[in-house]
Amino acid sequence: MAVLEGKVAIITVAGGMRGVGRATALKLAGQGADIALTDVHREPDDLPPAEVRAGWRAIESVSEEVTALGSRCLPVYCDLGYSDQIQDMVSRVMEHYGRIDILVNNARAIVGRDKVPVTELPEEVWDHFLAINTTAVFLCTKMVGREMVRMGKGGRIINIASDAAKRANAMGAAYSASKFAVLGLTQASALDLAPYGINVNAVCPGPINTDRLSYWERARAEDQGVPLEEFRATIVEESGRATPLGRIAEPEDIADMISFLSSDQARFITGQAYNVNGGLLFH
Ligand SMILES: NC(=O)c1ccc[n+]([C@@H]2O[C@H](COP(=O)([O-])OP(=O)(O)OC[C@H]3O[C@@H](n4cnc5c(N)ncnc54)[C@H](O)[C@@H]3O)[C@@H](O)[C@H]2O)c1
Repeated sequence: MAVLEGKVAIITVAGGMRGVGRATALKLAGQGADIALTDVHREPDDLPPAEVRAGWRAIESVSEEVTALGSRCLPVYCDLGYSDQIQDMVSRVMEHYGRIDILVNNARAIVGRDKVPVTELPEEVWDHFLAINTTAVFLCTKMVGREMVRMGKGGRIINIASDAAKRANAMGAAYSASKFAVLGLTQASALDLAPYGINVNAVCPGPINTDRLSYWERARAEDQGVPLEEFRATIVEESGRATPLGRIAEPEDIADMISFLSSDQARFITGQAYNVNGGLLFH
């Protein structure tokens, strides 16, 4: 029997063609889990060029891939900035599957507008980062956690933080503060939910080779007169060279850790924050 047979996993913001969410959906589906995927309807201007070229249809496309692996899949559009939309999403998953065993909080605000010194950071950008990167993780934990407690079958909650949750970078006040908060939320939720057999852990990736859209990268590429993908490729190469293991992470490296934390092998692990960074940071 596949290790996650009979389990249902929600993965937030899994629509990116090369994102962590898609890699996780395919990994968990390959292990037998049924999947619910969320994403927000992204503006055409917010799509990575490779997704536009491929005619990528976000969670609809990932959903087809999951189904092809033999698992069921429910794509749900949900703006994680609104608690009523999160509640509707959780209710839809419960109506559809009747259970939730695994929650992967993978969401983040689109990066770039936050990349300024703290003295220049607009309050609305700060608020947006806290809303999507932190408050949405809290709300999903609260609403899904209640269902898990009610079902009485335990569960797994995995919060995708960042190495920026352990060491801040310049021009990263909003991102780092929002991700540091995720680790506090992970520890407190782990203690609150331990009596119900619900394990809560975090994963802290270093740089990942995704096609994520970054407003900052797009603006720098325009300034330098190079295509965005060329600019991004340079960043990926430089990050790889700066990493002890000699390459940047692939989304599958993160999905493997999420799969481990979802499995029975991680049954005695809770409240932890695991680095997946090729040796860039040790604590
Ligand atoms: N990519 C990296 O280098 C990196 C490094 C460390 C940590 N991480 C973390 O890994 C996780 C996944 O990163 P990624 O690079 O695969 O993601 P990404 O940046 O490619 O995707 C972000 C997703 O968030 C969605 N989103 C934006 N606003 C939203 C909203 N209001 N409601 C719902 N969805 C919204 C977007 O549609 C997009 O699909 C994130 O939590 C990120 O912080 C990524």
